[in-house]
Amino acid sequence: MRIESPREFERLGALRIYGLQKVYELDAGPETPENSGNADVVRAIPTEALHRIENEMAIVVPVRNERLKLIEGVLVGIPHPCLVIVVTNSPREPIDKFYLEQEAISNFARFTQKKIMVVHQKDPHVAAAFAEAGYLDILGPDELVRNGKAEGMIMGSLLAKMMGRKYVGFVDSDNYFPGAVNEYVKEYAAGFHINDSDFSMVRISWHSKPKVVENSLYFAKWGRSSRQTNQVLNRLVGHHTGFETEIVKTGNAGEHALSVDLAMSIDYATGYAVETFHYVHMLEKFGGLLEHGDDTDDMHRLVKISQIESRNPHLHEVKGDEHVDDMIAASLSTVYHSRLCPESLRQEIEEELARRDYLKEGEQLAPMRIYKSLDRMNFDVFADRAAPAAILEARTGVTVSQA
Ligand code: GDP
Ligand code: CO
Repeated sequence: MRIESPREFERLGALRIYGLQKVYELDAGPETPENSGNADVVRAIPTEALHRIENEMAIVVPVRNERLKLIEGVLVGIPHPCLVIVVTNSPREPIDKFYLEQEAISNFARFTQKKIMVVHQKDPHVAAAFAEAGYLDILGPDELVRNGKAEGMIMGSLLAKMMGRKYVGFVDSDNYFPGAVNEYVKEYAAGFHINDSDFSMVRISWHSKPKVVENSLYFAKWGRSSRQTNQVLNRLVGHHTGFETEIVKTGNAGEHALSVDLAMSIDYATGYAVETFHYVHMLEKFGGLLEHGDDTDDMHRLVKISQIESRNPHLHEVKGDEHVDDMIAASLSTVYHSRLCPESLRQEIEEELARRDYLKEGEQLAPMRIYKSLDRMNFDVFADRAAPAAILEARTGVTVSQA
């Protein structure tokens, strides 16, 4: 891959947010000695280097009731060296969708000799593992893992750690283009290759999202939600550095990857807020802006966020109303309820939501549910208890949960 070096970054305490990086070539060819120049404006990363990182990466694919053809297309796009972890929350009644998914994915794994795990979000072994490891918040009233993509992502991250992977990335299962999926994973690898730190995150900004406007294709760049979210996050960063900034371009980035160590050490928001909260929480935790008490050792390591602009258009399944207002409210809520949010920005958020008719007179923006970081639970106990859910020894082919 040939990729632009980041031109700027914002530094807050231990956290560095790098500016958006453009991709110039999806494949820059094999290893050659002159490839390594760190100071170059555009850097070539040899294919072998990407494969080395992919070997250490798990890709979590969250599924809820997607068409099998779409899921299969996504699997086709994931580079072979990656371990695939499908976390599905598809219904088992009246038709057992989980069974159909396992069957389709087993076939796929047989043909490709790919390493794929399939785990159901409601697997009782996994729920018991969470309970015994002392991580009860993620369980609902029925004592199973709650519904939601964020909950599936948390499960997937733990399985990635159990399987000894160093990085974990996420790709939605409703993507129409295997080529886009393939590109995202390569970009994750490129980001980790450039910023090799134990605490590293890569976020994708889609170059475009095709839409039909007046009977022809229009390639839109920013949706309403990402525009709004990025603007508020930039206001937050700017407030604390004292300089206006446009550094954040990926406030809503569903496509992202992070080192497993980082995944274990951050808190998670639920619902539409999960990706935006990454920024808010990392600023809180690593930005050196709050009195922490016992969290001060977080300041000794460097935490890096890279943002990469993908080239493939992004097209996923359209599921009716996109609930743009709910998305915006959830994202802004994470900023609004942060201890880092200045009063002036709170007012702006209130005004924005009132303007959208989302908040009525006297109404308050509800806080999102927050899960505390996974490093508070007993991981060894979790791994021990969750093992039957995911049959771990299979080196190729499917490992299937028994829910
Ligand atoms: P959007 O792309 O933000 O409009 O949201 P989607 O409905 O496409 O969901 C994003 C991804 O998460 C898709 O791959 C869904 O199949 C998946 N997903 C949604 N809800 C759940 C859930 O409760 N559990 C899991 N594991 N995945 C989910
Ligand atoms: Co989608």
